[in-house]
Amino acid sequence: MTSDLPTPALLVDLDRLRANIDRMQRACRAGGVELWPHAKTHKCVEIARMQMEAGAAGLCCAKLSEAEALLPCGVRRLFVAHSLADPGLAPRLRALADRLDELIVACTSEAHFPALEALLRVAGLRLPVLMAVDTGLGREGVRDRAAARRLAARITACPTMRLHGLYTHEGHAYTSPERPEACAAEALRAASAVRDALDPALPLWPGCSVTAEAMAQIEGVHAVRPGTYVFGDLSLARTRPVMPWSSLALSVLATVVDRPEPGLAIVDAGSKCFSSDRTPDGLAAADLDRRDLLVRRLSEEHGFVTGADADGLNVGDRLRLVPAHVCPAVNLADHLTVVSGDAVVASWSVAARGCVW
Ligand SMILES: Cc1ncc(COP(=O)(O)O)c(C=O)c1O
Repeated sequence: MTSDLPTPALLVDLDRLRANIDRMQRACRAGGVELWPHAKTHKCVEIARMQMEAGAAGLCCAKLSEAEALLPCGVRRLFVAHSLADPGLAPRLRALADRLDELIVACTSEAHFPALEALLRVAGLRLPVLMAVDTGLGREGVRDRAAARRLAARITACPTMRLHGLYTHEGHAYTSPERPEACAAEALRAASAVRDALDPALPLWPGCSVTAEAMAQIEGVHAVRPGTYVFGDLSLARTRPVMPWSSLALSVLATVVDRPEPGLAIVDAGSKCFSSDRTPDGLAAADLDRRDLLVRRLSEEHGFVTGADADGLNVGDRLRLVPAHVCPAVNLADHLTVVSGDAVVASWSVAARGCVW
């Protein structure tokens, strides 16, 4: 039972997790779009396996170590959606490619191209390459059509690369005032304009949980790469309510350990559980049961719970708190406790925890 667990503990509601995986897969199937979930959210072999069994075409990873840790899920096709730039990665890249049917890598700008070229040459690999296009986040990706044309020409002329398509990450959709459908349409318009300047037949691979379901219904999208959808968090259920609250699959089980003054309860989960990420309105976490219990302040081992219902709490009470941003919270945990109602049904290792190299 969850009441017997030591706290803090990360709880995953198995039924909700399954429903989230199935809903995204159904949306992709209905739109005829491939789903390549980004595994950086869960970093768990068991969840990657569930995504593959539900029909995912492949997985995305951010780093080689993440991909290596998740190989036991049986994945055969992987996209490493990051600017791989270190020639020292060559032996590991080679070994990873040898264990897969398809390994796709990212080329994220003209500045990145020579580093990727050197890496592939040292590794002795010729790989499919997705070119990153910036659609407004301002992180990786070519900024305009002219840069895209120049980079595409270099990729096409390079004996170790094959231009496989274009990818985007609409991270700015989390804070946009536009509806998700409008964000999806706008990002796709920007990516299509770049693509059409190169070759209208090149596949488009957008990727973000805010826009994924909308993207999957738009003609011309080849694959989507959402990650956060698998659990949800405050960014997807509160800031950007694209996910119903009742679908939230991960919470931090925490115990009230002090009531030092009226209106304030202290729980035993702080930034070492939730990370320091906040919603734009400053929340680190909120009550899964929708009471007015809000965490706006954290120290390493303490969460400061305030809100109209805080005075109803007593030392020893247990809360399930939804993190603002679930991905870094999972990366801080050794394992996830899998629950069905109040029953503990499994414990899954966060196999790729800390795999950032
Ligand atoms: C390159 C890339 N693709 C896909 C994703 C998944 O997006 P989300 O977290 O919105 O599901 C991310 C998230 O950071 C990303 O950086």
